[in-house]
Amino acid sequence: MRVLTGINTTGTLHLGNYCGAIRPCVQASRRDDVESFFFMADLHALIKCQDPARIELSRMQIAASWLASGLDPDRVTFYRQSDIPEIPLLNWLLSCVCSKGLMNRAHAYKAYLEANQNAGEDPDAGVSMGLFCYPVLMAADILMFNADRVPVGRDQIQHLEMARDMATRFNNTYGLGREFFVMPFEQIDEHVEILPGLDGRKMSKSYNNVIPLFEGGEKALAEAIGRVVTDSKLPGEPKDPDSTSLTRIYEAFATTEQYQAFRAELSDGLGWGEAKKKLIDKINEEIGPMREKYNYYIAHPAELEDILQAGAAKARKIATPFMQELRHAVGLRNFRELQKDAPAAPEAKKSVKPRGLIKQYREADGLFYFKLTEGADTLLVSKGYVNGREAGMAVAALKAKGLADAADVTLSDGVTLARVNALLEAMRLEEAEKKKAKAS
Ligand code: TRP
Repeated sequence: MRVLTGINTTGTLHLGNYCGAIRPCVQASRRDDVESFFFMADLHALIKCQDPARIELSRMQIAASWLASGLDPDRVTFYRQSDIPEIPLLNWLLSCVCSKGLMNRAHAYKAYLEANQNAGEDPDAGVSMGLFCYPVLMAADILMFNADRVPVGRDQIQHLEMARDMATRFNNTYGLGREFFVMPFEQIDEHVEILPGLDGRKMSKSYNNVIPLFEGGEKALAEAIGRVVTDSKLPGEPKDPDSTSLTRIYEAFATTEQYQAFRAELSDGLGWGEAKKKLIDKINEEIGPMREKYNYYIAHPAELEDILQAGAAKARKIATPFMQELRHAVGLRNFRELQKDAPAAPEAKKSVKPRGLIKQYREADGLFYFKLTEGADTLLVSKGYVNGREAGMAVAALKAKGLADAADVTLSDGVTLARVNALLEAMRLEEAEKKKAKAS
């Protein structure tokens, strides 16, 4: 299982980023059955931020934050997006199979248009091509390493859908049944804390209610927690533990017993000042030792650079040969391959059209479909799925298990389950052979 995620480098991280993204990702990266890719999305950062000093500082701070939080760069692949030139090249290959209409439908872009319209401005005012094409670059980040799972917030679900759409189009246009890209899916952990900020709303830079993770040290942490909103009950008065963010933030750093004890103390009249002090101590237990490591890296940027250069080299061990294959697929080939006496390119064999093909597509009704074809014959068409993810999962199930009944598909006239299953079996064999050939 390959897990990949990136963080835009336009600012510094807060406790919400730590509890919601960094900490669960670092923990998951220690498992033996996952291969993790974490990166600084510093090309994406240029879309929002055109202050070079801030970009420079932010990518350093975010890299140091990952490492201070326990990320082991030998265990994972840890890099800056801008150090992998294959990513912007893939961005272009994907741009050329991605319809503009798909980008027009992006929520973030539509929100911009609407805000401009409401303000009586030109609808595209302030929209750069970088912003408009944001989802293509994000798809390139993900597909470059064929990630299966992408830990992100809910606001990114549509970007994953778009990445699958581009992957499918590329596979269908150039793959001739061969899958260059696997379908990536978002990973949204239900039980990972969404931390509330000072005012009780989700902790977010755009609400200006954040508690810094490392920047400003213990002093800034204490200062921010001092500003967490509470009611004005005095020490000794019973308090509602759910009336403030303090309790939920405490929960994110405490064991269940400690959390229950904290609630009980508030109900028994613990003063808000004392409660804040307890929260600061609790956070410091976990973050304090990390802060030293963070400060060390910020003071030794050359060491950070070495770690990231090593990470880029590791990432490019995958990206460079894969890009070679993709270039070949689209026709950007080395002319030597055309020489008569040159050994036949192994790809010559690949371009033999396989018997069966599964194509995913979207209809005017907005639903997602797939169909199975054999040569010019269409054997079956699926029912419509409300999202690409469900359609993708149905395709995967069909490929792996065959067709048990025709409940979710429409078989073409005269086509039997037996014919469909024989074709699927042949496709599985073909796929296995290809994998074997590639491995040897
Ligand atoms: N768009 C993501 C965000 O705003 C950041 C990002 C860029 C990303 N490229 C990515 C996340 C690739 C996951 C995978 O949070």
